[in-house]
Amino acid sequence: MSAHSDHVRHYRIGLAAVIEIDRPPVNAINHDIRAGLIAALTAIAGDAGVERIILAGAGEIFAAGADAGEFDLPMAQPDLPMVVAALESATVPVIAAIRGACLGGGLELALACRWRIAAPNAQLGLPEVILGVVPGSGGTQRLPRLVGMKAALSLISEGRSIRAGEALEIGLIDQQDDDPVAAALALDITDLDGRPPVSSLPAPSPDRELAEAALARARHRMPRQRAPEEAIRLIGIADSMSFEDALAEERATFLRLRGSEECRALRHIFFAERGARAPAHLKATAPAPLDSTIVIGGGTMGAGIAHALARAGTAVTLIERDDDALQAARKRMASLYDAAIRRWLLQAGAAAAEQDAIRFQAGYDGIENAGLVIEAVFEDMQVKRDVLTALDRAAPHAVLASNTSYLDIDIMAGCLADPSRLVGLHFFSPAHIMKLLEIVRGARSSDRALATGYALARRLRKIPVQVGVCDGFVGNRMLQRVREAAELLLLDGAETTQIDRVMREFGYAMGLFETQDMSGLDIAWANRRRQAATRDPARRYSRLSDLVCKAGWLGRKAGRGWYVYEDGTSVAPNPNVTPLIEAEAARHGIIRREMADDVVLRTLLLALINEAADILDQGIAGSASDIDLVLVHGYGFPRFRGGPLCHADRMGVGMIRESLLALQETDPMIWRLSPLIDRLANDGTGFLTPTIRRPA
Ligand code: NAI
Repeated sequence: MSAHSDHVRHYRIGLAAVIEIDRPPVNAINHDIRAGLIAALTAIAGDAGVERIILAGAGEIFAAGADAGEFDLPMAQPDLPMVVAALESATVPVIAAIRGACLGGGLELALACRWRIAAPNAQLGLPEVILGVVPGSGGTQRLPRLVGMKAALSLISEGRSIRAGEALEIGLIDQQDDDPVAAALALDITDLDGRPPVSSLPAPSPDRELAEAALARARHRMPRQRAPEEAIRLIGIADSMSFEDALAEERATFLRLRGSEECRALRHIFFAERGARAPAHLKATAPAPLDSTIVIGGGTMGAGIAHALARAGTAVTLIERDDDALQAARKRMASLYDAAIRRWLLQAGAAAAEQDAIRFQAGYDGIENAGLVIEAVFEDMQVKRDVLTALDRAAPHAVLASNTSYLDIDIMAGCLADPSRLVGLHFFSPAHIMKLLEIVRGARSSDRALATGYALARRLRKIPVQVGVCDGFVGNRMLQRVREAAELLLLDGAETTQIDRVMREFGYAMGLFETQDMSGLDIAWANRRRQAATRDPARRYSRLSDLVCKAGWLGRKAGRGWYVYEDGTSVAPNPNVTPLIEAEAARHGIIRREMADDVVLRTLLLALINEAADILDQGIAGSASDIDLVLVHGYGFPRFRGGPLCHADRMGVGMIRESLLALQETDPMIWRLSPLIDRLANDGTGFLTPTIRRPA
């Protein structure tokens, strides 16, 4: 066994030299691995007894990609293209023996090998565009030569990865085997005689129709992002340039994108996602068992949560108020399963079996051994407290969770003999699809309750973000603030359609008013009525939304909201809204004037950023990254902008302070500069500075 660096070694088995990459957890390719691979190849070249080289990961992973943590550093030699070239020109054939992830730079290594054998669990792909770059070590040139234009365009421009079975079908691997290293050893070496390197295969001719379809798909799935379009362009040049020139063009594009704001923002979110897990002090705490879970309330959220739990293999009991409500909950569940079948997520037989296993009942009988109970009943403190009081006796050992959107879980916990059992688990709608889970830490929530929240997130493959108690927690509190700012912009002269367009142009899939119409205006209306008693009468308040609701324009489901709908499709702005805005502006003594798009956008962003800074300063969120995760995964903030606080750093905290101070002069209650922004601006730092750090 010879070690060539901390993470690369090779050993001999007969006439084979096996090179192993060993850098847990995912063999992310860093400088040490690159240098080690070159050293291993050089050492093996001097060994006359070797007839084949096998390249493998030491554990259950081949290599999950280049180490994105090095993106902020100057490029150190040898770079990955040098390693790829050395593999491809090795004196004896190199065979890639692939288990687990073989992604990005990992797949580029495998593409430089003469033969690829993968275990069924292998996952192969070039996901670089997801991080805002293109493959930079030959991926865009070798993959099309191996699998053709159609598969290459789809894999690279969508950043999609595939299993070994599909990889075999499209020709990306040559062989599938449970033990790829053993299969590589057993391979008859004469099978590789005369097998050309992938780079010398003919490039497929460009196909305009395919490229345009890929471009349309990329613009739809990752709007306004440069990397997918660049990837499609690079695949297109394979046929018209020499391989070397095309590689140089690919590398130059990779390096240019690597330094872009888009890449920085996407990398930030990628690391934030990877860092979203239980804090260290909870590691030793056992969560409640999740094999059987109770959901109270089978409305929009309860049904979605129960569906997600059942899909994750948990035995679910759904409790409703009475038989009529149970009937409605059953129907809701059935339509969720129908949708899963339509989307090819489940076959009809399996769906029926899973659905049959869900228990529907009225009342709390038989749940005394429950590990976790999640309530998703009406957003009303008294209703929630009544339910919790009943659960206190009915499920004496369970962790109790509330899916409340805004309410104070400390007040709820007050009706429990042991208030530490309660935690907030704030799901997002649709609960079986949305990735975010706010874990609301009450003043008395126990470690066990919190650990259960994290365990549930893992089980449901959701992104957990711990938040403290305040009205609306992180996400809804920021949403309320930005809605307030948007309505005041309307009074000042902006139009609903303008605000929605500006937000879409920034990268949101939908604007604020379009989104409200889609989800219905009534929930927020009920919430504003709840808040009315405690609202500071001195704070400027726009009644616009209330008036829209009072008129019965509750959004798409009512056929009319901020827009008018026909058959569920928006056909025009609601013509009655503008007179309403004008009347309200007059009531406030405001002379409406045209507003520039950049003013509209900046005002909305400043509202978000200032509120986020307060949330951070008050300890409601643990980090800027957590806030960015909430906004990106729960509220449609464009991922490629990294979340509001990543974007704030790009805008510059000094400029943000100046703008907020100017607004503060016009309205000191609504625009009170967050003390955190003031401190950051004084220190000359930002929310994420000095650099984007990887989770420990
Ligand atoms: P919903 O009105 O669709 O469903 C509530 C369900 O609770 C109804 O089916 C009702 O029959 C049932 N229920 C009421 N009292 C009950 C009781 N005592 N025992 C058993 N069942 C009872 O409401 P939705 O939208 O599902 O919201 C539920 C909770 O989730 C609320 O706290 C809400 O704030 C929260 N939430 C809602 C989101 C949304 O987008 N709709 C998003 C995130 C949280």
